[in-house]
Amino acid sequence: MSESYRIAILGATGAVGTELLELLESRSFPIAELKVLASPRSAGSTLKYKGENLPVEVVTYDSFEEVDLVLASAGASTSKEWAWKAVEAGAVVIDNSSAFRMDSQVPLVVPEVNPEAAALHQGIIANPNCTTILMSVAVWPLHKFQPIQRLVVSTYQSASGAGARAMAEMKTQANEILQGETPTTEIFPYPLAFNLFLHNSPLNEQGYCQEEMKMLNETRKIFGSNEIRITATCIRVPVLRAHSEAINLEFAQPFNVAQAREILSQAPGIEVVENWQNNYFPMPMEASGKDNVLVGRIRQDISHPCGLELWLSGDQIRKGAALNAVQIAELLVAQKMLRVSPATA
Ligand code: A2P
Repeated sequence: MSESYRIAILGATGAVGTELLELLESRSFPIAELKVLASPRSAGSTLKYKGENLPVEVVTYDSFEEVDLVLASAGASTSKEWAWKAVEAGAVVIDNSSAFRMDSQVPLVVPEVNPEAAALHQGIIANPNCTTILMSVAVWPLHKFQPIQRLVVSTYQSASGAGARAMAEMKTQANEILQGETPTTEIFPYPLAFNLFLHNSPLNEQGYCQEEMKMLNETRKIFGSNEIRITATCIRVPVLRAHSEAINLEFAQPFNVAQAREILSQAPGIEVVENWQNNYFPMPMEASGKDNVLVGRIRQDISHPCGLELWLSGDQIRKGAALNAVQIAELLVAQKMLRVSPATA
């Protein structure tokens, strides 16, 4: 019997959790046992995996006994409560939340960028913020070729970034508005349907929201470079799924546009989508459900001789969260860094 692993998904009923289940199945991840964990709200429900109904278990201290790998996607406070307990019980945790991303003991990994960092883990590996993952995949191949000096990014972030309940809320709001009713707001601070607003995370004293600071700090950590100057504006837009980003890069020397296009078309995890005649470029609707980040509108910044402009759309639930986590797990398997289920060892 080939080696396989006992897996737990913490937050299995959420938008990212259900995508994790789908990816483990479609990518044939070697699983000996699979536990699906959530909050008491989900007690009694089931989730489908390979045609079977798995009972959702409420997470408790015993949940991590005899588990080799935990894929956590239940928010930062839940991760803070459970991740180290899972590590103490012998599991490796790949954590989707922001709880440990900037912890110097915890690697922050995008497999296309810094796969080598995964090997340095001490029990927990952090999955970066979704907009940061999408941007890193697109920008790293250019940065490797010629270091970026300054990066200016504006994001167009879909409802899916705030979870399954936020997606449902936006649909309800759209119906309410079309019927002339006042839109209900429970998850988001303001109506998102037919509207947009600054990303709904707290602002610091410099006027940057938490999401913007994540993009600044996490990108530097993933790239292993504190020198890049980065500024970000993060906006929530009325798109159901997949985020988009307008990225302006400044290099020390001019970057040939044809060469940038060639580098990006060869880079892993990227699909260049450009049809200049038809004004056809990456769109969130077309990025939804895809593994690759769609990158296009690669052009010279006419305001700066060393500037380059990019536009991208990427599925935030997939590459921005669940797929990146599963790819990290696949790295651990390939490097034989996971405890193997005794049944298959
Ligand atoms: P539940 O469905 O039982 O609330 P999303 O990001 O789509 O909102 O999903 C969040 C996920 O995290 C859900 O699976 C949710 O479970 C789970 N979750 C939230 N809080 C907790 C908690 N305190 N303990 C365990 N799971 C939690």
